[in-house]
Amino acid sequence: MTAHLSSAESSNVESLLKETRIFSPATDLAASLGGAYCASMDEYRARHTRSIADPEGFWGEVAQGFEWFTPWTRVLEWNCPDAKWFVGATTNICHNALDRHVLDGHGHEVAIIWEGEPKLPGDNGPQPEVKHLCYGELLDEVCRTANALKSLGVKKGEVVTLYMGMVPELAIALLACARIGAVHSVIFGGFPAPAIADRMLDANSRVIMTCDGAWRRGAVVPLKKSVDEAIHLLCAQNHTVDHCVVVHRIKHEMEGAVDWTAGRDHAWHELIDAQSAECACEPMDSEDPLFLLYTSGSTGKPKGILHTVGGYMVYTAYTAQQTFNLRPGAGHVYWCTADIGWITGHSYVIYGIMPNRVPTIMYEGAPNFPGDDRFWEIVARHRVTHFYTAPTAIRSFMKWGDQHPGKHDLSTLKVLGTVGEPINPEAWMWYRQHIGADACPIVDTFWQTETGGHVITPLACVTPTVPGSCTLPFFGIDAAVVDEQGNELPPNVGGLLVIRKPWPSMLRGVHRDRARFIDTYWSRIKGMYLAGDGARRCEKGYFWIMGRIDDILNVSGHRLGTMEVESALVSHPAVVEAAVVGMPHEIKGMGIAAFVSLAPGSTPSEALKTALRSHVSSVLGPIAKPDMIRFTQTLPKTRSGKIMRRLLRDIAAGRDGNQDTTTLEDFTTLATLRANEE
Ligand code: WTA
Repeated sequence: MTAHLSSAESSNVESLLKETRIFSPATDLAASLGGAYCASMDEYRARHTRSIADPEGFWGEVAQGFEWFTPWTRVLEWNCPDAKWFVGATTNICHNALDRHVLDGHGHEVAIIWEGEPKLPGDNGPQPEVKHLCYGELLDEVCRTANALKSLGVKKGEVVTLYMGMVPELAIALLACARIGAVHSVIFGGFPAPAIADRMLDANSRVIMTCDGAWRRGAVVPLKKSVDEAIHLLCAQNHTVDHCVVVHRIKHEMEGAVDWTAGRDHAWHELIDAQSAECACEPMDSEDPLFLLYTSGSTGKPKGILHTVGGYMVYTAYTAQQTFNLRPGAGHVYWCTADIGWITGHSYVIYGIMPNRVPTIMYEGAPNFPGDDRFWEIVARHRVTHFYTAPTAIRSFMKWGDQHPGKHDLSTLKVLGTVGEPINPEAWMWYRQHIGADACPIVDTFWQTETGGHVITPLACVTPTVPGSCTLPFFGIDAAVVDEQGNELPPNVGGLLVIRKPWPSMLRGVHRDRARFIDTYWSRIKGMYLAGDGARRCEKGYFWIMGRIDDILNVSGHRLGTMEVESALVSHPAVVEAAVVGMPHEIKGMGIAAFVSLAPGSTPSEALKTALRSHVSSVLGPIAKPDMIRFTQTLPKTRSGKIMRRLLRDIAAGRDGNQDTTTLEDFTTLATLRANEE
């Protein structure tokens, strides 16, 4: 199994396994959160055991906490790999996120606190741009938007693409789609036109909602321009986009800069303000699709992960409640810093939080604009109690210096969370000391786009935490570390992370690609969900995630397929072949190293490196820009023609390697690559 890991990764895990610091939640934490949902580790174990032995009984009870229009006839129908949860029931996630609270008399309570990005440095003065949206007014806006979508002819089951910045309208659009049963496909606002076009084509989506532009560190990201380019690309493939609804976020700054196609383009407020605020929720079958979210796979193009209504609703809200110990009416203010363009934003900015009736902060901007203390200033001003971010952000905070959090009153914080990649113990300790005042528990939540919600995670009030470990499985999750035959491995032996039983928010498929769904998740180990991560369990049963076992890179917590980056490089006329591997990176966790062989007539130069970086960025977005490019005449390959990535990884990391190279087709290649180090 260690064959999947490079030597540095293994030694990192060795040192992690020697980690002995254990932090138990403070005894007064539960009381300060208004009470703990799970009172002790004994209770956690008993409930976990029951959830695995009797999933139908367990989840049936949890699901009673939600409102359904018609009840289920069976909690679970499992025909591996196809799961149906809450069979026959109907509901609407928007009803459980909004209507329910309004009907219960909480319409005036704050649902979303939106904080805009200051447009200019120094614009962060006494009056930051903040909106408080209550359940009642949000419901009205969602209904208007839902009616607007209907007026454009959007039908239940149709895919609506959302390509927006972190503006309130994005949350409204999500919920409006859910309300009428349209399937949303959110595309992160940092993706360029080709990525939009690919996803719209794959999803056969003909309606897109966007913004004229987004603010990013005082500059404008021209979103509508990218949409126009994508529509142009789609035209060439005979795919028509019928409607494009545009939020004017940066209107004045963009005057005249946004092209407008009459009939197809609609100004958000003109279209939506004219609608009625009455729109009944569509009764959705529990297994009707809720959304597609595209994520990188190890081969070729991104895949559209499908989530359905009932199971996703129950699991995300329940994990949010239990992991963070969220409680309505207890003064909690929750902030997850993720963009809604990623699964974390779907599940833990919107869908999992709103049914819990705790205000959720949506922040438009960057963590270091206008100053490196921006997040802490927001935490202090909104009196945030729960803060959830990514290890890459924490590493940046460490680098920017302790003085920034030190300047602000962070004493309202009670629970800290992290997600996206393994967190190194130094970053974990810094987070605990400098943000959590040595008192807040850190919930290191392991999960994936495919799992919908947390699958291995501490529970804030009970689980003793160890830096670097995501601890124990959530209720209903039968996680294990197994060998290639599916046998569970003894403690501290690395293996494949699997989940052996179905859970409510598991992916239901890969859009229009049944074979890929089966191949990726269900074929390597029969009858088990393969997460694609390597892991170990220590004697205590705690899980330690060792990173991806496939060709997926995790750059700043974002997934990228090596193949995607290679294809982007090869699409440049100067490149004939490219191999891409991950390399250690101080802030991003993983950086991208590209080995490139050039077409005849092209010569290596710094200018060409710059050109290739910006080419990749224009195809896949800035996240995919290689951190290191090395030109080479040939790539090291096995006799069967496979690129020897293990060797390239060692070269990229500047390691000696000393690896078995007997299968190398051309021994000189390696020597040349090594000699050519930057
Ligand atoms: C990684 C993000 C270690 C892992 C929610 C997984 C983690 C991939 C953790 C999914 C964690 C996520 N510890 N690794 N707490 N959380 N990962 O789909 O490799 O964007 O497979 O979902 O991120 O990334 P995705």
